[in-house]
Amino acid sequence: PKKYGVIGNPIGHSKSPLIHQAFARQTGIELSYAAILAPLDEFVATVTQFRQEGGRGLNVTVPFKHEAYAYCAELSDRARQAGAVNTLIFPDNDEAPVRGDNTDGVGLMRDLSYHDIPVKGRRVLLIGAGGAARGVLGPLCAAEPAEIRVANRRGETAVQLIRDYAEHEQVQTSVMLRACALDQFPEDELSFDLIINATSASLGGQRPAVPDTVFSPHTIAYDMAYGSEPTVFMTWAESLGARALDGLGMLVEQAAESFYQWHGVQPKTDEVRALLRHTLV
Ligand code: ATR
Repeated sequence: PKKYGVIGNPIGHSKSPLIHQAFARQTGIELSYAAILAPLDEFVATVTQFRQEGGRGLNVTVPFKHEAYAYCAELSDRARQAGAVNTLIFPDNDEAPVRGDNTDGVGLMRDLSYHDIPVKGRRVLLIGAGGAARGVLGPLCAAEPAEIRVANRRGETAVQLIRDYAEHEQVQTSVMLRACALDQFPEDELSFDLIINATSASLGGQRPAVPDTVFSPHTIAYDMAYGSEPTVFMTWAESLGARALDGLGMLVEQAAESFYQWHGVQPKTDEVRALLRHTLV
């Protein structure tokens, strides 16, 4: 079977093997898909070895998405815009260029559609300005919200994220883009329709310190993290009346898009969402 995998550090808890194997069963495509731990300073060596062993493609996760970007000789527009690669596509021919794609943004947007969450014309708060936030800013803008506020613990990183986005070739947007530091929200801030937690705070059992006033009973609070229990961010949002969702659907949808890029077949995500939810309990 064709060889695929996910590379990261740590990698032990990755759900990607389960998801891709489920897609393979569903579509009748024969493949192997492994979780590959790369030492922090050996991303390129580990990828090279995987290719030499006949590997056809890799998903890339924390902390290698930037190194993967630098590794690619060819990039999709969305990978270039994100400045990060989560999907490596290796050509059959060793001489041909390695192609990099980023399916995180489309994963988020498809999960929002799946839950019937509108973005067009809405006020969106994107919390965080690291790799995860960078990957979704472009696709969020393309959905034409009225406003996107990027708030980060270190405010200057949020400013930089917006600046980089605005300077990106061909970016023309009518969306009002603003940046601020988490501890410098205006006192009289209005609530947002959609609040996306793209920080890594949930992984450490913490939540980003945004003021309570950004939530209202019509707010959707979306955490890119997921687990067997709701995250601290989700519980907090719910206590303020908001509806909270975790990032499990985004994970499945980004995997589905990677699967499509590799195999040319778009898998159905419903049953895999259910399977994954089941394994988390
Ligand atoms: P990722 O690829 O998950 O985005 P990253 O690029 O390291 O990882 O970015 C982590 C993000 O989470 C950053 O926006 C970080 O804020 P700073 O830029 O100020 O460091 C944010 N973050 C991490 N822990 C946080 C916490 N406890 N509260 C608020 N923000 C946090």
